[in-house]
Amino acid sequence: MIDSMFTPLLLICLVCALCDARRNHLLSQKHGKLGEPFGHVLLTLPPDQWFDQKLDHFNVEDTRIWKQRFFVNSTWFKHGGPVFLMIGGEGEASPEWMVQGAWLHYAQHYNALAVQVEHRFYGKSRPLPDLSLSSLQYLSSEQALADLAHFITFMSTEYQLPPHTKWIAFGGSYPGSLAAWLRYKYPHLVHGAMSASGPLRAVLDFAEYFKVVTDALATVSPKCVTAVAEATSVISEMLTSTSDAEYLTQQFRLCKSLDISNSKDVASFVESLADNFARVVQYNMPGSLGVTIDTLCEIMMDETEEPVERYASVNDLILRDSDEPCLAYVYEEMVLDLRNESWESEMANGGRQWIYQTCAEFGFYPTSDQSRHIFGQEFPLEFFTDMCRDIYGPKFSRELLISNINRTNTNYGALELEVTRVVFVQGSIDPWHALGIYQTRSDQAPAIYINGTSHCANMYPPSPDDLPDLVKARHRINYLIGKWLKADYHHDSHDNN
Ligand SMILES: *[C@@H]1O[C@H](CO)[C@@H](O)[C@H](O)[C@H]1NC(C)=O
Ligand SMILES: *[C@@H]1O[C@H](CO)[C@@H](O)[C@H](O)[C@H]1NC(C)=O
Ligand SMILES: *[C@@H]1O[C@H](CO)[C@@H](O)[C@H](O)[C@H]1NC(C)=O
Ligand SMILES: *[C@@H]1O[C@H](CO)[C@@H](O)[C@H](O)[C@H]1NC(C)=O
Repeated sequence: MIDSMFTPLLLICLVCALCDARRNHLLSQKHGKLGEPFGHVLLTLPPDQWFDQKLDHFNVEDTRIWKQRFFVNSTWFKHGGPVFLMIGGEGEASPEWMVQGAWLHYAQHYNALAVQVEHRFYGKSRPLPDLSLSSLQYLSSEQALADLAHFITFMSTEYQLPPHTKWIAFGGSYPGSLAAWLRYKYPHLVHGAMSASGPLRAVLDFAEYFKVVTDALATVSPKCVTAVAEATSVISEMLTSTSDAEYLTQQFRLCKSLDISNSKDVASFVESLADNFARVVQYNMPGSLGVTIDTLCEIMMDETEEPVERYASVNDLILRDSDEPCLAYVYEEMVLDLRNESWESEMANGGRQWIYQTCAEFGFYPTSDQSRHIFGQEFPLEFFTDMCRDIYGPKFSRELLISNINRTNTNYGALELEVTRVVFVQGSIDPWHALGIYQTRSDQAPAIYINGTSHCANMYPPSPDDLPDLVKARHRINYLIGKWLKADYHHDSHDNN
């Protein structure tokens, strides 16, 4: 259910959710289907490895430790070579990353040791026995960065890496932000970073999200945008009548009858329909049914049906693509699931933890508050801020959220982040670029803005269908890494590019 309601909240770069038979709702449904980059070649995945990590890096009296998971691919490593660190994010770390992805081409080129560390509280990296609030207080980006710093010192000893071994961090989406922040916070440990699709600015009301989704539809045709606006405006009117609500229940295959007196359910329903478009735009890659932005717009522009019927056809298609019998949207059920503190709960696959991080650090709520929003006005900011309170308790007031977000931006500098040897990579149709750096402001930390790609596109293995801008971006990243690895610390400030 979280999948249908909160996809825009989940930034995950789905490198190979498909190749991976593990059942993981958050990762595998709807957009996790990337096709098979290596055809049907079966690659042996590296085994899990574990090391002792501190629970609390910011309390000297707390000596508790836990086992953090990591993976290694040393196939191309030559002694004295660099180490490439793939940063895990808001879901289980996939060992698929260890055998494919653009970063491994760079690793091969530069004889790097390739390692990936799973983020604390996700996947199998479980610092504490449950996900209660008292456990989740140790889930934060700051603790995660300190984990990585500690990991680097651990590996240096474990692999007897020579002093001054150069570490390059890689990450996409939330880990894209972490990669840049890691270089910022621990410059003596991390030599450079490739930060893909990173939302660097925390913001409570991320109304721009749906603006970028709308812009992406407009690139197909302005008629597509108009048709969506027409459909949602008719739906808004229907939401005032009980008999029309019955029609909506049928038409949109709702798992339960829509009760229009329940404003949370109405918000969640309208948000789920907007999300049908958002997920396709965010991961603009054909799923099992080959659904792309073009497919959605083709349906929306088919004038043989009424706009609401076309909007319902899009919903049908997305439900089929994700093998779901009906649209789950009931707010109370979702909140109850997300309150579950057990690692056995389905929401422990990332939903409970990531929504906690949005309430405690980032916000990022894709609201309908923007003027000229085409997906219906029914899911304003309060819908999301109330959700924090409903899931994690009354302390999570709107005031607390605002101060949490300010704290994050003060801590990392938001878009004023000052770093060197970081390349920021963003895609023009990825809604998340709106919170990241996509224009070069300093030669020391260039931005690459890829025309026509979406979330984390540059991290996937190269494919013959790649847009020319994407191909160029991967080459430029390779070039920059080479430059950094050669860089003499004292001279590289004169070196532009
Ligand atoms: C490292 O990745 C390459 C490329 O996919 C793969 O051929 C190799 O088997 C991997 N090595 C290990 C130890 O997993
Ligand atoms: C949490 O989820 C687990 C696994 O689905 C379930 O067994 C347990 O009853 C749930 N706990 C609560 C309090 O709902
Ligand atoms: C948060 O930051 C905004 C803008 O920087 C400021 O207007 C607001 O007063 C701050 N709020 C709190 C609670 O610190
Ligand atoms: C982006 O690509 C499209 C076609 O793919 C082209 O029409 C457009 O001019 C390009 N925009 C920029 C800024 O290069």
